[in-house]
Amino acid sequence: MKSYKSHFSQSLLRTGAALHFAAHSHHPWPDVSFVAQQQAWQDAAIHLDRKWDNVVAAQERLARGHVARHLNLRSSDTVVFAQNTHELYLRLLSCLPATTKPRVLSSDSEFHSFSRQSRRLAEAGSIQLDLVPTNPIASFADRLVKSAQRLQPNLLYVSHVFFDSGWSFDSFASLIDEIDDHVLVVIDGYHSFLARPVDWAPWQDRCFYLAGGYKYAMAGEGCCFMHCPPNYGARPINTGWYASFGSLAQPQEQITYPADGQRFRGSTYDPTSIYRFNAVMQWMLDQGLDAATLYRRSMEVQDLFLAAVETKDLCIGTLLSNPDGSRFSADGDRWLSFVSGTSSRLGALAGSMLLPGGWIQVCYGRRGVLFHALSAELWCATD
Ligand SMILES: Cc1ncc(COP(=O)(O)O)c(C=O)c1O
Repeated sequence: MKSYKSHFSQSLLRTGAALHFAAHSHHPWPDVSFVAQQQAWQDAAIHLDRKWDNVVAAQERLARGHVARHLNLRSSDTVVFAQNTHELYLRLLSCLPATTKPRVLSSDSEFHSFSRQSRRLAEAGSIQLDLVPTNPIASFADRLVKSAQRLQPNLLYVSHVFFDSGWSFDSFASLIDEIDDHVLVVIDGYHSFLARPVDWAPWQDRCFYLAGGYKYAMAGEGCCFMHCPPNYGARPINTGWYASFGSLAQPQEQITYPADGQRFRGSTYDPTSIYRFNAVMQWMLDQGLDAATLYRRSMEVQDLFLAAVETKDLCIGTLLSNPDGSRFSADGDRWLSFVSGTSSRLGALAGSMLLPGGWIQVCYGRRGVLFHALSAELWCATD
């Protein structure tokens, strides 16, 4: 298996560098992103205020194109960038009718960004929040669809791949069949984008898809994005002046919105992450890497890892599996989740030969302690 370690010289090749096993925290950045980071600075220094029109617009266009290619979208015009998914969620909420208390339906396994904000809004009486438990996972899709049919929420938000387990939700067809056409359907794809092949073409006219650069896209914070299906959320109340960037020279008497994804834009932001994102996407193209090749590779690395765990009798906990007993990562995410009652075994693992850097991610969740393997070792499997 080819090693890509040399492309991550600052993170993985450095003497004494930790071997990073945290599948879904900060992904190491390939070296090409360092050059991109410098380019962003240089462009700002040279173009000053004109950088937005002269260079950043082109970087954004390129970035939207990369997202559209990876999601198999018809057009990149439906893609909008933002600093984080929280910003986009708030903008989506602001599309809901203000006359009645909007109803939001979701799962109890959504990432903190969504769940904290939604719980607080529900506490304040601003929304009605209904959460469908993900467990037992075998019946989750069915229970979610039935709840959607019964409750007819204004907005439905669910992860494509759940951050706290790696299980996935793919029953988009039955979901769409059971809900009114006007419901905003938002899929949090942060753990599916570039973690596994995603073909959004069948859902592109109906479902929003959110993700970002921090994890599998390897580009860091600040470059989250959303695919916005046409005709849904035409005039978000939470709106930034960049949404009217193309028409600022005209009189601003009426508050107009572009029809494409730019209707969800915010305000002045740091575009450096977009440069990094483009550099990493181009690097993947140059290396012949895409979501499918990375996914296959991670399966092979997981096999190596599981064999090593067994040979060394590391007892790090119970590997989560699909309801039918198959390894869930085989159709779910790129990481393995081990459930353990205690973190002490994980401490022992950190000192073992398997993890010379000794940095592992431990999640204290409802399911006990979760150990999420694999991230950096994906890139240096044969070293
Ligand atoms: C499923 C999921 N959604 C969203 C996020 C990020 O949320 P935000 O961009 O608001 O920080 C994460 C993790 O960073 C995540 O795991």
